[in-house]
Amino acid sequence: MGMTDEVDTKSQPVQAEPKVKDKEVADMDCAEVPDEMESQKKRHLNVVFIGHVDAGKSTTGGQILFLSGQVDDRTIQKYEKEAKDKSRESWYMAYIMDTNEEERVKGKTVEVGRAQFETETTRFTILDAPGHKSYVPNMISGASQADIGVLVISARKGEFETGYERGGQTREHVQLAKTLGVSKLLVVVNKMDDHTVNWSKERYDEIESKMVPFLRSSGYNVKKDVQFLPISGLVGTNMKTRVDKNICPWWNGPCLFEALDSVEIPVRDPKGPYRMPVIDKFKDMGTVVMGKVESGSICEGDSLLVMPNKAPVKVLAVYCDEDKVRRAGPGENLRVRLSGIEEEDISSGFVLSSVVKPIPAVTEFTAQLQILELLENAIFTAGYKAVLHIHSVVEECEIVELLQQIDPKTKKPMKKKVLFVKNGAVVVCRIQVNSLICIEKFSDFPQLGRFTLRTEGKTIAVGKVTDLPSRSSA
Ligand code: GTP
Ligand code: MG
Repeated sequence: MGMTDEVDTKSQPVQAEPKVKDKEVADMDCAEVPDEMESQKKRHLNVVFIGHVDAGKSTTGGQILFLSGQVDDRTIQKYEKEAKDKSRESWYMAYIMDTNEEERVKGKTVEVGRAQFETETTRFTILDAPGHKSYVPNMISGASQADIGVLVISARKGEFETGYERGGQTREHVQLAKTLGVSKLLVVVNKMDDHTVNWSKERYDEIESKMVPFLRSSGYNVKKDVQFLPISGLVGTNMKTRVDKNICPWWNGPCLFEALDSVEIPVRDPKGPYRMPVIDKFKDMGTVVMGKVESGSICEGDSLLVMPNKAPVKVLAVYCDEDKVRRAGPGENLRVRLSGIEEEDISSGFVLSSVVKPIPAVTEFTAQLQILELLENAIFTAGYKAVLHIHSVVEECEIVELLQQIDPKTKKPMKKKVLFVKNGAVVVCRIQVNSLICIEKFSDFPQLGRFTLRTEGKTIAVGKVTDLPSRSSA
């Protein structure tokens, strides 16, 4: 959903990387690809920009591209003029990320924007999510591809407050990001240059002190996994270089680029069974599928299965960004050309999977859910219907049985039989879908085992898969 068209329309100029020449590697066997070639490559991280509408996600993303030299002054001038013509003067930096007409006219991101940039140690893919509540499904799809998140918060008077209120997307995005496997957050307190803020330490501290307990209650270990910093995305302050003491005498921490550079994420196992959820597909000299590798490695010539239809396929070519590569490991965003399957026979939500240990395909599973906010008057009980979002799968589902309620304080199951639950409850239940979906137990593959439930455009619960039927069609 939503990710279908944006890749072409929104792809940004990519910084030239030393390309691996096709011919050079074509003659090598995969196992012979020298290790230095892998190690010379910088590490790669997918960063999703999240936060309430108008917090400055696209502006900050655009500024990053400008500061890293990927957008020249002339283009900026062109955007300044275009933004002015649309009476959106201050949006010109956002135009770097917001590339379609609707987004530029309304000043709101709709599709997840994508761009690449590099720091000293890392290649980054930026995923610029929309903040508006109508586009939460697109945000989910962006966050489900990300390793870390940049949560953008506006410090402007009144704006932090609206984003943080119940129903504000600051809250919803944080909870979704956590469930979708975004393990680390950089919280950027943005618009510090605004005249209502003026780099005020009091305002910054107020925002940090309100956010910390909320982030903690959403499951983040604030000491280990969260870092706060002040910036101005529009002016570009405290981004590539540290803020001048004349502007902000009290900040002694890092700038955004330094913080991004030093984020550590858990090493992923390149030897695990191959799993790549399909986000999109198209025809191009064979069938090409796109997605992020969640586990294992892929090599030209590999035999794999497309699940759940168990279709055997052969890997003809692997592309990472613009480059053809022989081998790619977990965390990479790839395009993979396959033989043995027609494009029509693949949907987003399918998973390119190892043959020896294919991903389970099920129509039912057990999950532990946390109910966030039900629609007014709704009760959560057997028979409840919602839309399930898990990795790239979007499916109607039904709760068929509530099994146990969990005491949120003791984390232990409660004794009494549970027939319905209310907001805030944690409950174990059985969930059914109409057609086969590929999922994993959260404890085995967190990225493929956490999900959200939505009804009428609102996220009503987040959850993790705790059990699969023993005879799943693997
Ligand atoms: P959505 O995509 O709709 O969720 O919004 P967004 O978070 O991408 O916000 P966007 O970058 O479009 O910026 C919204 C408005 O905030 C624009 O008018 C920006 O110029 C303004 N803005 C963003 N960053 C800053 C900043 O650092 N300082 C000031 N003063 N204004 C900013
Ligand atoms: Mg935006």
